[in-house]
Amino acid sequence: MAGNRTPLVAGNWKMYTTSGEGAILVQDIAELVEDLAGEVEICVCPPFTGLKAASTVIELDRLDFKLGAQDVFWEEEGAFTGAVSPRMLKELRCDYVIVGHSERREYFGETNETVNKKVHATFRGGMQPIVCCGESLELYEAGETDAFVRTQVREGLAGLDAGQAAALIVAYEPIWAIGTGHTPTPEKANDVARMIRATVGALYGPPAAMACRVLYGGSVKPENATMFFTEPDIDGALVGGAALKAASFADIARAAR
Ligand code: 13P
Repeated sequence: MAGNRTPLVAGNWKMYTTSGEGAILVQDIAELVEDLAGEVEICVCPPFTGLKAASTVIELDRLDFKLGAQDVFWEEEGAFTGAVSPRMLKELRCDYVIVGHSERREYFGETNETVNKKVHATFRGGMQPIVCCGESLELYEAGETDAFVRTQVREGLAGLDAGQAAALIVAYEPIWAIGTGHTPTPEKANDVARMIRATVGALYGPPAAMACRVLYGGSVKPENATMFFTEPDIDGALVGGAALKAASFADIARAAR
């Protein structure tokens, strides 16, 4: 981590927690991270059905937590069965929306174009997107990580204004590192994070590049978190499996201090 960017540790709970389980998890995490207030931003991203309960716990217990959704649709309202609009998320006090996670790209047909629409919708709705990018093992082994991720970033982040670009959060999550226990070396992850920052800079200028936050995601655990967080272009983590246990998530958040 470098500059004056506030570190962010976000837990992507994926499709694991019921509303009740999520409420308890928020309370359990809160007990373990009280001393981090103001130093590390902590964000929890329950499934849609768990947002209300998590939001209520955050409000009633006056927790210094951010709340994130795992997806959003780009239209304001309409006949879009099963979809959730930015306004609905904002009403539940969401701060962030994960957009373009590789699982959404793989199982739900997300493309750079739909990611871009969702990024704009998130900003229009008064929230900040956590935009995910990352290459497959095949591309990684072919040495095509940079070209692939650069295109994801250029197309996914097209058409923003400078203020929005500065408020961006981009998560670099190599697909082959998600849920596998494998990770790139911290140096390699930082190289990609730096390239992402440079791409934001090429699109929107140096101030946006300096201000936007780039997270690393993919098998982040308490044992390896510090290695990633000491890299200058990595501003935190998007955590999957290890975010489902209060103790491991809290330890990762502590490592970001
Ligand atoms: P894991 O931490 O389980 O590898 O998942 C990472 C991820 O996909 C977060 O969005």
